[in-house]
Amino acid sequence: MTSSRALIASTDLLAVLDLASHEICTIIELSRIIKRDYLPWREVLSQRAVALLFEKPSLRTRVSFEVGVAKLGGTVVYLDHQTNPIGARDTVGDYGRNLERYCDALVGRVNQHQTLEALAAAARVPVINALSESHHPCQALADFATLFEHGFHPSRGHLVWVGDGNNVCRSLLETAASIGCRMTVVTPPSCAMDDATIQSCLARSCRTGARLEFTSDLHAVAGADAIYTDVWVSMGEKAHEEKSQVLRGYQVNTQLMKHAGAQAMFMHCLPAHRGDEVTDEVMDSSASIVFDQAENRMHVQNALLVALLTPDTARSALTAQNLASSPLTPSLSREHSTP
Ligand code: CP
Ligand code: NVA
Repeated sequence: MTSSRALIASTDLLAVLDLASHEICTIIELSRIIKRDYLPWREVLSQRAVALLFEKPSLRTRVSFEVGVAKLGGTVVYLDHQTNPIGARDTVGDYGRNLERYCDALVGRVNQHQTLEALAAAARVPVINALSESHHPCQALADFATLFEHGFHPSRGHLVWVGDGNNVCRSLLETAASIGCRMTVVTPPSCAMDDATIQSCLARSCRTGARLEFTSDLHAVAGADAIYTDVWVSMGEKAHEEKSQVLRGYQVNTQLMKHAGAQAMFMHCLPAHRGDEVTDEVMDSSASIVFDQAENRMHVQNALLVALLTPDTARSALTAQNLASSPLTPSLSREHSTP
């Protein structure tokens, strides 16, 4: 529990829309500051503990949280729930009420998003979604941090999603809607984003000026600044030959990248199924920024933890001098001037 004034209004991060637009910009900006020099941050989470509970496999999320928290002087406890799902011995609520007595934040990768909601309702410490079947907010925040690092313009840049309208796509869309970016979602009609997400993102985009488009036409990649894809079958989902067959036409390959144009970067949250949603040639091309995305998971999650657990320290780092060089300064000032 923190006694200082909160920097982020929501205690938890279960979905990107939990955050106000300026809070997203703040986290991305803070991640840039922390990434630039870890030295001043090496004790910021001293005496703090973060629980990591995983019901699904992970490479990047687990390692980036474990190493990231260690770099900030904190401790993590890894709770493996892949064989014994959370809720099997204690109720989810009791689990949260126990963990909050030892830990300052709970990070969960769960089969069902409602498990995180139950945990957040019970625990008085922040709960962070490390992927559920419907959202992957830490991934999307890191992805936009990566885009900005590569010169993507907050209002003129164009991100195009190609493939399955899944959890990662939803979180990216919520981020684009929140910070006023242009994003096109290209999916086969049977893999389209759900209407509720589209409506909530469009509602937010009215305020931020984001341009969101939805189509099944691959010609929409022309002129894109970045093409993003993900696996055809997400963890916990049953593989359907029919779905893979439909998505085969949406593979990101050299031909598609050429159609997008020489400026287009290639993005993937990883792990990639080479030969399915993306070819080796694209994955290993100079357009690919996938490992920068993977690295930025750590810096963005660290920024999030610092903002949630030590808001005063975060606030003092977000000085006018640091903000002046931020690609997000226009969005930050626009939001800060909104009552
Ligand atoms: N992108 C991502 O979340 O990777 P992991 O599944 O390896 O954690
Ligand atoms: N959509 C994928 C993302 C993995 C990081 C999944 O949920 O399995």
